[in-house]
Amino acid sequence: MAKLTILEFPDPRLRIKAVPVEVVDDKIRSLVSDLLETMYEAPGIGLAATQVDVHQRVLVLDISEDKTAPLALINPEILSLDGIEVTEEGCLSVPGVYEKIERAEHITVRALDLDGKSMEMEAHGLLAVCIQHECDHLDGKLFVDYLSELKRQRIRKRLEKSRRLDVAESLKAPAI
Ligand code: NI
Repeated sequence: MAKLTILEFPDPRLRIKAVPVEVVDDKIRSLVSDLLETMYEAPGIGLAATQVDVHQRVLVLDISEDKTAPLALINPEILSLDGIEVTEEGCLSVPGVYEKIERAEHITVRALDLDGKSMEMEAHGLLAVCIQHECDHLDGKLFVDYLSELKRQRIRKRLEKSRRLDVAESLKAPAI
């Protein structure tokens, strides 16, 4: 297992549309375990391969309180969307930003599991929101895309400023 680097908005690589996985093999299973490790370490409740610069349709989730319910979806397809749910969302690729986003409250999704078998599941509430958020990543879409252009520009500037401050801080540290 290896912890991977998470790309941050507005990195253009977050805009690449991921391609479907052709065969669920050990390489994909190893990607899933790296994604889970990276997600837990962050910490976060969902991570798409796109966010670690791997442009294949793979995502992981764990919305449990005690981090004991990892879920991997390969080639996920949302088959139906029902109802409306407004949730305050955040994203590991847009650190420190939380905004209210409207999504479907109930979805059905089809995906391959780690053995390459097709499965269908229903999801409600937070899990449904999380799956929609991660599927968006695979299509190169971020939750800030649902906000106004003005708000998105403000977020971009705020993140650029905080990254500049991080660099300034690291320059002050002794170089040994
Ligand atoms: Ni995200």
